[in-house]
Amino acid sequence: MQTTTNYADRIPNNVNLSEDRALARALERWQPAFLDWWREMGPEAASGFDVYLRTAVSVEPQGWAQFGYVKMPDYRWGIFLTPVAGGATIGFGEHKDEPVWQDVPGEHRANLRRIVVTQGDTEPASVEQQRHLGLTCPSLYDLRNLFQVNVEEGRHLWAMVYLLHRYFGRDGREEAEALLTRRSGDADNPRILGAFNERTPDWLSLFMFTYFTDRDGKFQLAALAESGFEPLARTTKFMLTEEAHHMFVGESGVARIVQRTCEVMNALKSDDPAQVRAQGAIDLPTIQRYLNFHYSVTIDLFGADQSSNAATFYTSGLKGRYEEGKRDDDHRLQGRSYPVPTAVDGRLADREVPMLNALNEVLRDDFIRDSIAGVGRWNRVIEKAGIPFRLTVPHKAFHRKIGTLAQLHVSPAGRVVSESDWNANVGDWLPTVDDRAFVASLMGRVVEPGKFANWIAPPAIGINRQPANFEYVRFN
Ligand SMILES: [Fe+2]
Ligand SMILES: [Fe+2]
Repeated sequence: MQTTTNYADRIPNNVNLSEDRALARALERWQPAFLDWWREMGPEAASGFDVYLRTAVSVEPQGWAQFGYVKMPDYRWGIFLTPVAGGATIGFGEHKDEPVWQDVPGEHRANLRRIVVTQGDTEPASVEQQRHLGLTCPSLYDLRNLFQVNVEEGRHLWAMVYLLHRYFGRDGREEAEALLTRRSGDADNPRILGAFNERTPDWLSLFMFTYFTDRDGKFQLAALAESGFEPLARTTKFMLTEEAHHMFVGESGVARIVQRTCEVMNALKSDDPAQVRAQGAIDLPTIQRYLNFHYSVTIDLFGADQSSNAATFYTSGLKGRYEEGKRDDDHRLQGRSYPVPTAVDGRLADREVPMLNALNEVLRDDFIRDSIAGVGRWNRVIEKAGIPFRLTVPHKAFHRKIGTLAQLHVSPAGRVVSESDWNANVGDWLPTVDDRAFVASLMGRVVEPGKFANWIAPPAIGINRQPANFEYVRFN
């Protein structure tokens, strides 16, 4: 299997594009449409900036990325698949232990295309959601991180478009075009999934989004990295290496906001949100409400708690579980059950349902365990400052729009409440208009090297170990 990178090609790749002229031509036709989309919907008013970016230049674990100044429209969006030794077998479902597929099996074609399109649609969507944020960056360091995430989401779109062009013929080409025509939040032609049509209007939202929603990406990609359709597994494995940085941006961003808030609280010797706000920092209860919002819209992305599609995707070998290979069951799951929350007599109770139908819930619970760990790290910042407040993730039934829980009003603590109770308390649970207006009022633009907005602490260490006053973006 070839692993060399044809970086000199018009489209950098390790998939032998130069030997498949029809495919190369199809992708070269899609490329200008992608660049048109980037100019229209990518980072606003930023195309002339020189940005200190890492570019994927190889799939080797050591040194896959190269750092240097790049103008974003010139970023080398490439196609990289993690190489495999060959001889692999399917790890789960009714085809378990059969050789992996190098091509799309006819009977699974529609489902696989749907999986690839749904994943692919999230990538440009997040770029669209974040396109105005560069205008209000809290530092050059943060501006650079935003752009890094944006160009890599663009590359993830390329990764899915490659699969569509290479393996799905004419329908694949049509889907690849449609990925450039939907728009996040558009009333007539929105992105496919709910959370990707929400606004990301400020940097607290951005950090919560990259912490929680990019982590949804991690879990979806990890489940697809188990796929019996090997090109999908190899593509998503390489995407995961980039996703880690996106979650780092979110986790460290929220941690730095929390740290700054705690400094202000200790200087004031007060936990009064109004006083904290008067000092230009974001009070901890507001951070909690943003957390509640992003967490709840993100766990909706895993889909309905019971889903026959999830069962089909698993049984037919298309989409596995997170870390499928590390689980010591039979990897077929017939006859097994899993608890999902439902309302019984006005209270939440777990009900056992067939595990195959509950695989969305299984993945959601894996996500929840993973995301709680980072919230614990935020709490250590608060604890170190000697402040008794703790951030928590809300109950998984809180503020849900998908699945059986969508019919209920549930408090962050997991209590089913009436509609009037919900309305009376929602201002304590989710960001209010006033919260959002306050956070928006803090968003200025700090672009002097080494300087940071007042509401966020500097990072502990620079990107690629650069010094604190490094010029991550040059405006020319
Ligand atoms: Fe992505
Ligand atoms: Fe991401």
